[in-house]
Formats: sequence, structure tokens, C-alpha cells
Amino acid sequence: MQAQIDQYTAEINAFSPANADELEAFRIKFLGTKGIIKDLFEQFKSVSPEEKRTFGKVLNEFKQLAEAKYNELKENIGSGPQSKGNDLDLTLPGDGFIVGSRHPLSLVRNEIIDIFKRLGFVVAEGPEIEDDWHNFSALNFPDEHPARDMQDTFFIKKNNGKDDIALRTHTSSVQVRMMEAGKPPFRAIMPGRVYRNEAISARAHCFFHQVEGLYVDENVSFSDLKQTLYHFVQELYGEGTRVRFRPSYFPFTEPSAEMDISCTICGGAGCNMCKHSGWVEILGCGMVDPNVLENCGIDSKKYTGFAFGMGMERIANLKYVIRDLRLFSENDVRFLKQFQTEIL
Ligand code: PHE
Repeated sequence: MQAQIDQYTAEINAFSPANADELEAFRIKFLGTKGIIKDLFEQFKSVSPEEKRTFGKVLNEFKQLAEAKYNELKENIGSGPQSKGNDLDLTLPGDGFIVGSRHPLSLVRNEIIDIFKRLGFVVAEGPEIEDDWHNFSALNFPDEHPARDMQDTFFIKKNNGKDDIALRTHTSSVQVRMMEAGKPPFRAIMPGRVYRNEAISARAHCFFHQVEGLYVDENVSFSDLKQTLYHFVQELYGEGTRVRFRPSYFPFTEPSAEMDISCTICGGAGCNMCKHSGWVEILGCGMVDPNVLENCGIDSKKYTGFAFGMGMERIANLKYVIRDLRLFSENDVRFLKQFQTEIL
């Protein structure tokens, strides 16, 4: 019996299971109800009384050894790198975790900035509370001219004159600040929030976001404007997006145009988004009016430039089909979660 126990002890010490199945076989063999230990205890009953004392101890130690080994292996198997078992597949991808989401307007703004950065445009910003000069007068809005009514302004201080203070109605005010502060060439885009006195509905809001673009240098022409905006649209909405320009009017550009693109939702076939016309308007643009250049201290004989401005909500809408403008500012997590990304 002693020889047998010695042999089993060696076997137990050397035992190293490759997987959980082998460990289970070990348990059944040694610790099972019909296992070796049970059997040894059976045999122990017929041992002579004088041998009982020594063997009792040996047998108990042996049982403890087998149990300790089993418990130790059970804990390790499948949970550590030492396991070569089926339970752990180190090649499986890890569990991803969710980080906070970016607001769709931030996504769109970042994308627009990226595209124009590659064309050499820098990012500029300006104040949301503006004076009359930067929001209107420098931009060639004559005093009391009805063009000022084009944009329903929130006045903070109204004096019917030069010292009016208002929430900016467009980011074109940043053009003026930039041109006043530096020397051409200018090549910048200016994202920011703007305010207009409109009743809040699914289609209008009292504040929204624009990105303005400005390029002033020698020999800048309308073809530069067209090519820049054409490239921008291909990058943003994909190759093959068509563009068309319609004549328009802005006090600060001459000539002025509005740019339409083929509907990003139906590809031009006609749908609700494009009111079945196949085209959607995305921005206003034009050659910077020489008066504006002169107002900002730039020689309009030497320099020309183009400018454009677009609403970011509109750009986002054409990407994500967000039917109600109010969703952008309500901070409803059910809306925001849809823009969540999983990080691995
Ligand atoms: N500021 C104009 C608007 O708010 C957009 C625009 C910007 C048009 C620059 C032409 C040039 O509608």
C-alpha cells in the first residue's frame, strides 16, 4: 500500500493538465466517488490495528495532497496565461468600451476643418457679441439699407447707428476682423455660432452654426472659388457629387452666388430632402466686394478674394438626415448616443 501511495504521489506532483477536461479526469480518478482515494480508504479498513496509526496519517496526507493539487489547478485553469486550455482564446478581440460621443455638429465641423486644412486654410474665430461695424457696416451693408433686414438681428444696444451692439448674425464678421488685423494673403475658415431672431421650430432656430471661408491674395478669381468648393464637396460627400451655382445677392460679395449640390440622400433622383428637385442648397459665396477690402485697409486694385459661408446644421442634416433642428441643441442622450463610437 505504501508503494502504491508513493507512486500516486509522484503522479499527482507531476500532473499538469492541458485543459479543463484533463483536470476533471484527474478529479474523477483520485477524488471521485469511485476514485483511488475512496478505494484506499476501503483498503485501510482491513489494515492491521498496529499499521492503522502510521497508515492513517499517510493516507490523510495523501488525500490532502490530491485535494490541494486539484483546487490549485482548478483556480488557475482557464484564467491565466499558463492555461493552454480551450477555455481561453487569446486571439479573440478584447471587449470594446464606450466613450462619450461627439456632437454631430462637432463631427461635421472637424471634418470641414480637416478638408480645408489640407488646402492650406487656417482656422480663425471671433466674438459672438459684435458691433455694427464688424457685422454690418464694414461688410458693405449701407445704413438703414433693407439688406440689414435680411438677417433678423438680436440687438443688445440699438442706437440706429454705428455703436449698435448685437449678437452676430453671421460669421462674416470674422472676415472683417481678420483682414483688419493682418496683411494678405488670407486663407482661413471661421466656424462659429450665430444668432437670428427667429421663432424656434423644426426648421428654424434662434441660433445655429456657420463656417465662413475667406481667401484673399493677388489674382484670386471666381474659378478658384468654384474649384475650391467643388473639391470640398467631393471630399465631404464623396466623388461624383455634382454642384451648380445660382446668381444671388449679398452686400459683401460681387458677384454673388448660391451653391447647390446634387441631393446626398437620393443622388439627384428626387426625395423629400430635396423637395423632389434633385438639388439642395448648401452655401452662399462670391468675390469679396472691393468696398469690403477697402473698409479693412486692403488695396482692392492689387488684391481680390472670394468668400463663402454655410450652415453647419444643414451640412450635418445632409449627412445624417436630422429632420428637426431642435435636436441639435436639446442634449437628448437618445439622439447623441447615435453618434457614439466604440474604442477597442
Ligand atoms: N454671411 C452669409 C449668410 O449668413 C453667407 C455668405 C458668406 C455669403 C460669405 C457669401 C460669402 O447668409
